Amino acid sequence: MAFELPKLKYAFDALEPHIDAKTMEIHHGKHHAGYTKKLNAAIEGTDLEGKNIENILENLDKSNKAVRNNGGGFYNHRLFWEIMSPDGGGKPSGELEKAIDNAFGSFDAFKEEFSKAAAGQFGSGWAWLCVHEGGKVEICSTANQDNPLMPGIGCEGTPILGIDVWEHAYYLNYQNKRPEYIDAFFNVIDWKEVGSRYAKHK
Ligand SMILES: [Fe+2]
Repeated sequence: MAFELPKLKYAFDALEPHIDAKTMEIHHGKHHAGYTKKLNAAIEGTDLEGKNIENILENLDKSNKAVRNNGGGFYNHRLFWEIMSPDGGGKPSGELEKAIDNAFGSFDAFKEEFSKAAAGQFGSGWAWLCVHEGGKVEICSTANQDNPLMPGIGCEGTPILGIDVWEHAYYLNYQNKRPEYIDAFFNVIDWKEVGSRYAKHK
């Protein structure tokens, strides 16, 4: 079974004004679709064909640029769409709230550190909130379409929240004002979804 571009659970304009419809349409329909297509082409006829994406990334040969870039791109964007919602915003609750308080002191301190990681990622990449076995959470960032599941990437654990800071994610609406986009992203984070990922992977 080849990988398929996942359908969004909301309309392209559902995240406005925080993320505009045109950006969503191009990001999903062109960029994510492109990664999906190129991933399928890269694994076709190899022993990676038929494996799930987590397995492919966890056992990645990083010198395989086509699988690294497009496998990362496929996984990262799928996560990104799922942890956003038109009903998002606010703060985490329950166990995740406790884990964030333990790691950063408060939600506001977490938000500041996560925003700093996202703003400070030089060039294209992602900032992540990852959970480690045992429940500890950590913030890190990766370049291009790299991902914490990939071995030896300098960022470990399972990502439960991620923000795309490639210019294609924000340039139409925010131009070079990446910090404004990061701030707006907090209005669409689906903390219920992030919390259930925390519970699943801790
Ligand atoms: Fe993207």
